[in-house]
Amino acid sequence: MKPNPLVNPTVSSAVRATANRLLKHCRLRPTLGLVLGSGFQSVLSEILVVSRLPYAKLEGFPQTSVAGHAGELIIGTLGSAPVYALSGRVHYYEGQEMDRVTFAIRVLAAAGVRDLLLTNAAGAINRRFRPGDFMQLTDHINLMGVNPLRGRSIPGFSRFVDLTRAYDPALAKLLWRAARAARIALRQGVYLAVSGPSYETPAEIQAFARLGADAVGMSTVPETIVARQLGLRVAALSCITNLGAGLSRQPLSHQDVLKTAERVKTAGARLLLEFGKAYAQA
Ligand code: HPA
Repeated sequence: MKPNPLVNPTVSSAVRATANRLLKHCRLRPTLGLVLGSGFQSVLSEILVVSRLPYAKLEGFPQTSVAGHAGELIIGTLGSAPVYALSGRVHYYEGQEMDRVTFAIRVLAAAGVRDLLLTNAAGAINRRFRPGDFMQLTDHINLMGVNPLRGRSIPGFSRFVDLTRAYDPALAKLLWRAARAARIALRQGVYLAVSGPSYETPAEIQAFARLGADAVGMSTVPETIVARQLGLRVAALSCITNLGAGLSRQPLSHQDVLKTAERVKTAGARLLLEFGKAYAQA
């Protein structure tokens, strides 16, 4: 039989191969995947680690190049919920293509993950937000200029994915339960994704505010879109690391973003630990 030219066999077979490697590597079968952005890395010390795999050992996983993003898949339990934790993500601004940026999500889904908790650092657009706040994503606006589903279709999956409810209400409820247990005031809002890596201009932040965005960042949306294509439930959480450009007198710096992430890391870890507990009970 002639191969279907609309199908990219290398993408799906590469995903399958790496997922099989993962399944052979460890007996734990998590249904929950965590993507750990800045401000959430400390949850690693709350995970009872069964095994860890550097991305370099996972065929198809891209290497990260950003300071503060390690690049390791951790398998273990978080508050008695088995989890896969992706420590360090690859961003589109690093120059990788979208299928690379979202490869790990496809692998986790192929390995049996059903639910995802995506975390990130973001700048505040909403004037009520302060650095160190946490925000539950209610929705997103994709201004990255690209869509991870662009390109050849993948057999069995529609490319015309419905994003009416990209962020799952039941998982959001678990996040709220977790925040209450961790005694953390959770914000809610719309995350707007840009490609970066430059930060925004004050005019862009003003424009994004008018569009209805509460926070801005350079990640998460590609993972959400791919996860929804695969039928995964998604929850997402931002650590507000700074005020958006022009909302404070200071210029923006990556160092300041990392500094805030460092300051609130214990709270971030507590929040995710409580989420693990709530997930295990749900
Ligand atoms: N803009 C875009 N991405 C970010 C920001 C920001 O202000 N802070 C953290 N990630």
